[in-house]
Amino acid sequence: MPIHLRAETGDYAPNVLCPGDPLRAQYIAERFFEPGFRQVNAERGMLGFTGTFEGRPISVQSTGMGCPSAGIVFEELGMLGVERMIRVGTCGGIQPNMSMGDTVVAIAASADDQTALQYAQMDGFAPSATFVLAERAAALSRDSGRFDVHIGSVVSSAVFYHPDTNVVSRWRRLGHLGVEMEAAMLYTVAAVRRVEALAIMTVSDVYAGEEPPVRISDDDLKNGVDQMMEIACRVAVS
Ligand code: HPA
Repeated sequence: MPIHLRAETGDYAPNVLCPGDPLRAQYIAERFFEPGFRQVNAERGMLGFTGTFEGRPISVQSTGMGCPSAGIVFEELGMLGVERMIRVGTCGGIQPNMSMGDTVVAIAASADDQTALQYAQMDGFAPSATFVLAERAAALSRDSGRFDVHIGSVVSSAVFYHPDTNVVSRWRRLGHLGVEMEAAMLYTVAAVRRVEALAIMTVSDVYAGEEPPVRISDDDLKNGVDQMMEIACRVAVS
C-alpha cells in the first residue's frame, strides 16, 4: 500500500482519470460513473473513486495542484498497476483564437517546472502524450459540441502567480495553446513507467496580450468541463 494512496492493487481500474481538484473527482464519479462506484482513497483529502463508465471499469483520482503533488499520485498509481492516466483539468488559454470553456488536448507539455526535469534526469527531455490517445481524443472532438477543441502543446508552469509579466508572451511565441501545472509531470512519469498518458483541459481563463487573465464564470466552467469529460471518459475506456 503506497503512502498517499491508501489502496491495494486492484482497487483502481487500469484506466484512471486524474483531475487536480478532489471535489471534481467526486463530481466526475457522481455525474459520469454508473451507480455503485466506491471511494478508494481519501488520504490527505485526495479523493479517489472506482466504478464503471458504459459498463467498463474506470477510476478517478485527484492529484492536487502542481507537479510535485501530482507526481506523487502518478507514481503511486503506477505502483498500483494502473496502465493509462488521463489528466482532466483546467488551463489558461494563451492563443488569440481561444475562448472560455474550449477544450485543449495536449500532445506535448513544456516543463517550465524543475520537478519533471529532475525526475527525467535530462534537461532537454520532451514530455509528450501517448499518440493513440491523442488521436482518439482528436477523433472524438470532431463532433464535440458547443466549445472549440484545440490540439497542440501546453506549458506546465511551476508558478501560478508568475511575477514576470512577459512570460505568457514567450510561451505564446512558441505556439503553446495553454498554461497549466501538471501535464509535464504526467508525461514524464508515464514515459519512465511505460504507461499511457494524455492531458485534456478546459480553458478556465484567457490571456490576451500582456493583460491579467479574465476568468470563466462557474456556470460556463461546468459546461466546458462536461464537454471535456465526455471526450475524456470515452478515451479512458477505449
Ligand atoms: N496558470 C496556471 N495554471 C492554470 C491556469 C493558469 O492561468 N489556469 C488554469 N490552470
